This record gives sequence, structure tokens and C-alpha cells, in this order.
Amino acid sequence: IEKTFLMVKPDGVERQVIGDIVDRFERRGFELKGAKLMVASKELAEKHYAEHAERPFFGELVDFITSGPVFAMVWEGENVIKLARTMMGATKPEDSNPGTIRGDFATTLSHNIIHGSDSLASAEREIGLWFGSELV
Ligand code: GTP
Ligand code: MG
Repeated sequence: IEKTFLMVKPDGVERQVIGDIVDRFERRGFELKGAKLMVASKELAEKHYAEHAERPFFGELVDFITSGPVFAMVWEGENVIKLARTMMGATKPEDSNPGTIRGDFATTLSHNIIHGSDSLASAEREIGLWFGSELV
């Protein structure tokens, strides 16, 4: 059985949609294995987004994700990595459909409410980074 790392970003916490987001994954049938509200350090944010380190928007991305509390979560279930990405909606606001989390709550690329692991390797890496090896 698969696990993924999901995180309500500072804009989602500010907008008070944590409950709505948790509700969606519970209703779909996934199981919450860990969760915490926390402000990420710059070091953690840089490690989390290491794949984007060379991108021009990296500094902005790290500043944003450390700008306030995030709600970090581990969810478990059949095919949860892929299905959670579908439930989140596309990264670009013009492509995220109504009914998805981003399609319902976000209009901008940089402030898009939620993060979700995009593969088994990134799920394992991100769960370890945010929650430690016992939850991986
Ligand atoms: P995450 O779940 O947050 O990783 O989003 P994603 O997997 O859908 O997208 P990706 O990993 O490619 O990009 C990570 C995040 O960087 C996105 O969620 C965006 O918020 C942000 N991002 C992507 N492209 C740009 C950009 O061109 N400018 C800015 N400011 N942010 C960007
Ligand atoms: Mg990503």
C-alpha cells in the first residue's frame, strides 16, 4: 500500500481550507497517517524544492513556502500518489479544472494552495524529510 506527502501551502492555511482539503481525501477513502501545522525553515524548504534550485523562481518559491505555517500530511491508500495529484488539479491555473483543489481555490501559479508528491521516489524522499524515516 502506497503513501504520499501532501502539504497545504501558506496561502491555503491563510484561506482556512485545511478542513475542506482533509475532508476531500477522507471522503475519497484515503487514510491520514500523520499531520502537523508548522513553519518550515529555509533549509527544509530548499531541500524540499531542491529539484527547482536552478530555476529563476526558486528564491520566490522558498520565500513563499516559509512565509507562514503549512499543514504537512502523510496519506495512505491504493494509488494515492497519482490520485492525489489528480484531485489537486494541474499546476497552471488555466489548466486546473473546477472540482479539483486548485481549480476550486487558486488563480495563480505561485500561490496554488497545495503540494503533492509526484512519484514514489519523491513521496519517500518528502515523507522522510518532513516526518522522518518511521513514517516512510
Ligand atoms: P508542487 O506540488 O508544489 O511541487 O507543484 P507541482 O508539482 O504541480 O509543480 P512543480 O513541481 O513543477 O513546481 C513547484 C511549484 O513551483 C509550483 O506548485 C508552483 O507554485 C511554483 N512554480 C512553478 N513554476 C513557476 C513559475 O514559473 N514561477 C513561480 N513564481 N512559481 C512557479
Ligand atoms: Mg512538484
